[in-house]
Amino acid sequence: MAGHSRRRPAGTLSSGFGRALRIALPIVATVAIVAPLGWLWQDSRVPAAYSVMDMGYPDYGVGAMADPGMSGPGGHMQGQMPGHHMAATPRLVTDMVADPTRPADVRVDLVTRQQMLTIGGRSIPGFTVNGMSPGPEIRARQGQLIEVHLHNESVVDGVTLHWHGVDVPNAMDGVAGVTQNAVPVGGEFTYRFVAEQSGSYWYHSHQVSNPQVAGGLLGSLVVTPKSGVAQQVDVSALAHTYGGVRTINGKAADLRVPARPGQRVRVRVTNTDNGPMKIWASGPYRLLATDGTDVHQPTEVSGRSVTVTAGGRTDLDVKVPSDGSAVRVQLSKATAVIVGPPGADAPMPPQPTAELDLLAYGALAPLGFDPAHPTRQFEYRIGRRPGFVKGLPGLWWSINGRLYPHVPMYVVREGDVVVMHIANHSGEVHPMHLHGHHEVVLARNGVAATGSPWWVDSLNVLPGETYDIAFVANNPGIWMDHCHNLKHAAQGMIAHLMYEGFDTPYRIGGPADNQPE
Ligand code: C2O
Ligand code: CU
Repeated sequence: MAGHSRRRPAGTLSSGFGRALRIALPIVATVAIVAPLGWLWQDSRVPAAYSVMDMGYPDYGVGAMADPGMSGPGGHMQGQMPGHHMAATPRLVTDMVADPTRPADVRVDLVTRQQMLTIGGRSIPGFTVNGMSPGPEIRARQGQLIEVHLHNESVVDGVTLHWHGVDVPNAMDGVAGVTQNAVPVGGEFTYRFVAEQSGSYWYHSHQVSNPQVAGGLLGSLVVTPKSGVAQQVDVSALAHTYGGVRTINGKAADLRVPARPGQRVRVRVTNTDNGPMKIWASGPYRLLATDGTDVHQPTEVSGRSVTVTAGGRTDLDVKVPSDGSAVRVQLSKATAVIVGPPGADAPMPPQPTAELDLLAYGALAPLGFDPAHPTRQFEYRIGRRPGFVKGLPGLWWSINGRLYPHVPMYVVREGDVVVMHIANHSGEVHPMHLHGHHEVVLARNGVAATGSPWWVDSLNVLPGETYDIAFVANNPGIWMDHCHNLKHAAQGMIAHLMYEGFDTPYRIGGPADNQPE
């Protein structure tokens, strides 16, 4: 055979071989490219029903305490699924509830519907709570037990309610597929939690949350201090963009608040959009609170704007001028809160170029724990790389170099002092939101905080920035730790924080079609 072919004219041989090569090479090349791509594609797909416990890999952090049979000696541990290491009986997220024998102090019925909204004269498809968007503002006094009866009348994909910024017991967190099933049309769910901390919060659906929040399935939640609000006028200004139309409290217009000359006003600004919002005022202001936590000894500020993180809240204190005019708080250039006597106005103040830096605002105060001696240290490195997410090719957000669903499950033990280093190498801003906990900012870009403890639940991390934050693991369960640009979350910018020994009976997908993003 070989001898025979050697005697064939060279041209025939080479052209025969060449023809074979011309056919084979592209096939080999295609297989060489497609096979790994196919594997990556397959690997990026998520099953029709799965537990967040089976997602990604456990990250026990650095400095985890030695525990024979569990995570071994301290050091950076990444390993098998936590379930494989867990003690005999896991605790369930559903166990974590408010005292069932305690009667409610504030009881609210909320009915969700899918319907057309009229925003600024335009008809926009969206969602309502009790027939309006935003839904009714829930107000409670610190220490009261809030009980909310949710009834989903017509939201086809199902709904849940998440109490953004409130450190509720885990079963009340409202995350479809993690802490409950999505409530189908005709279904109900009761939320019960104690409003432990006064401050400004909001609620929104955490089922298919990207379109449902954008479509207005949300509202304010205000917890007033036991001693009452110090300001004579207390107003919520919930900023939301419906189909490109900027609004305050659902109206595409300035919010006019009546007040007498000399009165002090508390303006609670909530940013429910996907991007950061700058706010500033026509007069001096004090920044009273961020994300529901009071600033310690806030000083008077002039000529500076403040960034309100997507999902974040900022409470300002302004004074109505004594000359009969109004004071104006701009929520970006688009809309304003105008406070003063009826008919009074104030011209739009120019947008300051300088920004108030919360890293150095207010006065130092004790934290109540020592972040200099953490028992866990984690990294949350945000990047961007090509690959597949949910079977789709693209340039996707990565967490610690990996794409969803291969993201870390941060594992803590109750009582841990946790320090997390967040680094944003992705080229875009990300509003990072941890459920169930408040975190204090220790440093930004390596520069230590020098002002009042800056507590957040939503942190605006700009491209190129790093943050060191700390919190105490004092609310057992399984909690989302994700980007609150809900488009990014839907693209896989999601991780979870879990307490050792916890499990959930719920599944992403499944018969309830749970889709938290
Ligand atoms: Cu405002 Cu995971 O939510
Ligand atoms: Cu993001």
